[in-house]
Amino acid sequence: MYKAVISGMGMYVPEKVLTNHDLEKMVETNDEWITTRTGIKERRIASPEQATSDLAANAARQAMAKAGVKPEEIDMVIVATITPDYIFPATAALVQHKLGIPHAGTVDIEAACSGFLYALSMASAYVSSGMYKNVLVIGAETLSRIVDWTDRTTCILFGDGAGAAVVSRTEMTESSGFIGFSLGGDGSYADLLWIPAGGSKQPASHETISNRLHYMKMNGNATFKVAVRTMAEALESILKDHHIDSHEVKLIVPHQANLRIISAIAERLGVGEERVMVNLQKYGNTSSATIPMALCEAIEEGRVKKGDLVAMVAFGGGFTWGAALLRL
Ligand code: UT7
Repeated sequence: MYKAVISGMGMYVPEKVLTNHDLEKMVETNDEWITTRTGIKERRIASPEQATSDLAANAARQAMAKAGVKPEEIDMVIVATITPDYIFPATAALVQHKLGIPHAGTVDIEAACSGFLYALSMASAYVSSGMYKNVLVIGAETLSRIVDWTDRTTCILFGDGAGAAVVSRTEMTESSGFIGFSLGGDGSYADLLWIPAGGSKQPASHETISNRLHYMKMNGNATFKVAVRTMAEALESILKDHHIDSHEVKLIVPHQANLRIISAIAERLGVGEERVMVNLQKYGNTSSATIPMALCEAIEEGRVKKGDLVAMVAFGGGFTWGAALLRL
């Protein structure tokens, strides 16, 4: 058995910025409503020629450079996304090719906004079991392609971006590494946050297109309540399982969906805002990319360093949720 550590992180966001004021010209909304209800000020939008694999590859290049890991040293590529380039092949295969990674396994996983934590747990299991030495884990999204730009209840929330981590093998004696994961899901909530058509249940037809069923739909109020409860419970249970007090955690890195959700979780755990990473004002909700982008920025800004205890927590469509404890 080995320990699994994050040996390098990277992130990428497209250049184009879409501000709340820009959205005022597109739908019946205003900067004040968006800011007070969500905390979001602006988000990034991919250029027409950029697909999810392009964003993913850019973030991954940076993560591999930081880790000092060459393409031929990557054993597996896992991409978490709800906006793959195609239904198949997997975006991970396209990323592998773009990065010149020879012969690695490639797979996409889909757990919506919790996808990156699910992917990290798989990478950690591969590495700690001794099966692989280096697994490239990416959360990448071009949500601008599945957002209904006529629906003010959702289009103000989402953005495009990618974050990546190289998960590498280290010895059990090393203090750095993943401590544990706690993952959950409940499919009875499937139709509260989803894209109704385009899969095997409702394949694309003239009718599904004219009914706008290929866009993301969300019951925001119901989602909000379950998000606060399950994220807080996932964090509380993982801390309890590992006999760790919340005050020992240097930084909580939560899924960036809504500042009010993040504040409610921090309050419930009794953690001050100086120990909670927030960057959604700049990027909005980028689904599976929020956590790797937030952790990457936290490291770059010096908010956490080697030896610090980090707790990540996610929530998304499915519903799915999860928490992870990591000593950097
Ligand atoms: O990442 C996956 C997980 N996603 C989440 O966790 C998101 C969870 N949900 C949320 O973040 C919030 O529910 C929203 C931000 C989506 C909505 O905030 P809310 O405080 O729950 O607002 P609401 O849906 O209760 O709407 C309040 C009012 C409504 O008007 P009436 O019925 O009170 O007259 C809406 O029609 O605000 C109206 N409204 C807007 N007004 C201006 C909804 N969207 C907008 C808008 N601009 N963009």
